[in-house]
Amino acid sequence: MLRVEDLSKHFAGVQALRGVTVDFPAGQVTALMGENGAGKSTLIKIVNGDHRPDAGRVLLDERPLDLHSPADARRAGIRVIGQEPEIIPHVTVAENVYAGALPRRRGRLLDRAALNAHVRDDLARLGFEHALDPGTPGSALTPAQRQLVEILRALTGEAKVIAFDEPTSSLGEHETEALFALIGRLREQGMAIVYVSHRLKEIFRLADRIAVLRDGSLVGVRQAAASTEGEIVRMMVGRDLSAMFERPDVPAGEVVLDVRNVTTDDVHDISLQVRAGEVVALAGLVGAGRSELTRALTGDLPIRSGTVSVAGRVLRLRHPGDAVRAGLGYAPEERKAQALFLERTVRDNTSLVILDRLRTLRFIRRGAERAAVREFVGRLRVRTPSIEHEVRKLSGGNQQKVVLARWLARRPKVLILDEPTRGIDVGAKAEIYHIVADLARDGVAVLVVSSELPEVLGLADRVLVMRNGRVAGELSRARASEEAILTLAMGLEGEL
Ligand SMILES: Nc1ncnc2c1ncn2[C@@H]1O[C@H](COP(=O)(O)OP(=O)(O)OP(=O)(O)O)[C@@H](O)[C@H]1O
Ligand SMILES: [Mg+2]
Repeated sequence: MLRVEDLSKHFAGVQALRGVTVDFPAGQVTALMGENGAGKSTLIKIVNGDHRPDAGRVLLDERPLDLHSPADARRAGIRVIGQEPEIIPHVTVAENVYAGALPRRRGRLLDRAALNAHVRDDLARLGFEHALDPGTPGSALTPAQRQLVEILRALTGEAKVIAFDEPTSSLGEHETEALFALIGRLREQGMAIVYVSHRLKEIFRLADRIAVLRDGSLVGVRQAAASTEGEIVRMMVGRDLSAMFERPDVPAGEVVLDVRNVTTDDVHDISLQVRAGEVVALAGLVGAGRSELTRALTGDLPIRSGTVSVAGRVLRLRHPGDAVRAGLGYAPEERKAQALFLERTVRDNTSLVILDRLRTLRFIRRGAERAAVREFVGRLRVRTPSIEHEVRKLSGGNQQKVVLARWLARRPKVLILDEPTRGIDVGAKAEIYHIVADLARDGVAVLVVSSELPEVLGLADRVLVMRNGRVAGELSRARASEEAILTLAMGLEGEL
């Protein structure tokens, strides 16, 4: 059993953990829940030897551990699958899995072919053989594949404790199921499992125990079987949440975004329209081409043929700046890599795309800038000591909120959101839904990519389902259901 006792950790301006004591019994899944910035990753990083606690200790089988580095944690049998997978871009999947510890056979390092075969066996054993090829270079991996590399890496060698920090946030349906089956086997083998996720459904399916953190303190631990989603949410946010989806019907206006026969390397002949006041969702399985399409619409991937118009004007999209000037806002899926300046402040990152509006002659109206930033940082409940704090010091979910705050503040004509609530806590999720509804009511045309079906159903007026780089079908709000979407996404229409 793993136990953390009286853990405290302070960062400049922030008390990340305050005297937290939690047991993680062997053979059980203990979920850690809490809002963005509550201290979940900090606890896991201390267990992994990434951070030293200011006070308190970590015990494994009642023995205190002296953890100065992840290597110490690894030797003790602790494995952590982090919130942001660390992948070496210019070496292959197989080499990434065994980075620093290439397997040997009869004292000799395995050659590349043998290493690939070895990793291919591991993948098959875990049920991930279709998701990942051992020879792919790290730089070519999708977020889901990077997550799988982290999991494979963690499972090499002897382990007693395994901690997952939001492992499913970039996985599709199929990989998620494979991961859950894997976690089930690890539990049976008697491992202590720590599991962090913002998805309540997932927690109640997997976890034996749920520990809730708020503002760095432990609120309580519940047996999952004896608790409810409502109770856990109340413990997390300290209040009841009003209904998540309350979207009034808004009559749609003129066509604002008009996509005609767009073809790129990955998507084929896509046509779609979004009207002012309309929220259209793009659903589909991971790899169906949804993110590729949104990236093409915003000038981030080249369009081979077809046109994109905003408010009747055909765009010339050579790079992302063209799209912004034409009134198109885009919060990408991989926010950290694609959208944030980590060394800059929350204010700089948020006001980036509204500066042109805040300028009088050559001067930026700083007061107006701060007010605009504060409004959205406040509405999304970004946990930061001040808006002058560097973004790299924020928790993962709070970094995500900063990118969203930026685009919500700009109120573009067209807003494209790729997985807007990935990694975001329930309270902020509800607020994001409200803001999207407000923007639509004000006449913004919104296109949302989401893998979370309840979110798609709750937000969208229409759902376009993609499959293999094409639009497989369209569902009106009235006809859309989880079943109807999955049927189209998987190409099972003929079988019904
Ligand atoms: N390296 C750091 N420097 C400064 N502050 C930090 C650092 N790491 C974490 N913090 C702060 O500590 C607090 C807890 O962060 P932590 O990453 O543990 O949150 P979390 O519960 O994992 O949130 P999320 O759900 O967003 O991942 C946050 O206020 C965060 O800004
Ligand atoms: Mg975290």
